[in-house]
Amino acid sequence: MLQTQEITDYDYQRFRRFLESACGILLGEGKQYLIVSRLTRLLRDENIAGLSELMSAIEKGQPRHLRDAVIDAMTTNETSWFRDGQPFETLEHVVLPELEKLRGTSLRIWSSACSSGQEPYTISMILSEYARKNLSSRLTSSQIVATDISASMLVQAKKAEYEEVALGRGLSDMRRKQFFSRSQDGWKVVDDVRNRVSFREQNLLQGFSTLGKFDIIFCRNVLIYFSTERKQDILSRMALSLNRGGYLFLGASETISGYSDAFDLVRTPYSTVYRRKD
Ligand SMILES: C[S@@+](CC[C@H](N)C(=O)[O-])C[C@H]1O[C@@H](n2cnc3c(N)ncnc32)[C@H](O)[C@@H]1O
Repeated sequence: MLQTQEITDYDYQRFRRFLESACGILLGEGKQYLIVSRLTRLLRDENIAGLSELMSAIEKGQPRHLRDAVIDAMTTNETSWFRDGQPFETLEHVVLPELEKLRGTSLRIWSSACSSGQEPYTISMILSEYARKNLSSRLTSSQIVATDISASMLVQAKKAEYEEVALGRGLSDMRRKQFFSRSQDGWKVVDDVRNRVSFREQNLLQGFSTLGKFDIIFCRNVLIYFSTERKQDILSRMALSLNRGGYLFLGASETISGYSDAFDLVRTPYSTVYRRKD
């Protein structure tokens, strides 16, 4: 069993460098306990004695799935429906009407760290609600591309099936009735909401221009884990991935200030959001 005190400083630094270069996550000093809590099970399953052996195995690329399994275990996948509430009010009442006027057609939206799917499905629910209130809207045929680095999160997200507890986090009774149907293992997102969303694996450190251009990008609660240089790089590439007048949503504790001057900060009655500068 892996113990905090058995992790040498040498192996800890080696692991930190690996994690940062593989997925951007900066592990601060003194976080050996995180390695223990997140990797003990994996090491046991893979029959690996400790961090030194793990690093050697990753460097050799044997077994092949090990690198991704470690990244998977080290990422924080915390999410919920309509997370923080207000940004989704901004989406519905400010961003969608403005972009519908500007483009007059369906939109392309990117949920760039989608975890188990709550964020892209929330966006899709907002589109359904928007269409119900604006009968002539053409935004119902909008497309949401949802990506994440974690293959296991993407499997869950694609399944679109959630247990009672997960449903309890952020959903009103009304939305639960409208947007879910009972399934064998819990609750399944209805087809209308599900069909707008497609999923793909994407590491934000790597090029994402092949995903095409978007009108709106959600990049919420992921940049917080990255270094200044990584944030600057990702935000400048996201600006290039946005169509003219496109919007960027960040998490409640995240900002572009100090990282990018490619966006204007827009204050709405609900939250702040960023618009690509022309
Ligand atoms: C805390 S969750 C945020 C989920 C959602 N955006 C929200 O705000 O509720 C962070 C997600 O970022 C993903 N992630 C971490 N590093 C990543 C990277 N380099 N590229 C893409 N996704 C990454 C994790 O797998 C995780 O699902």
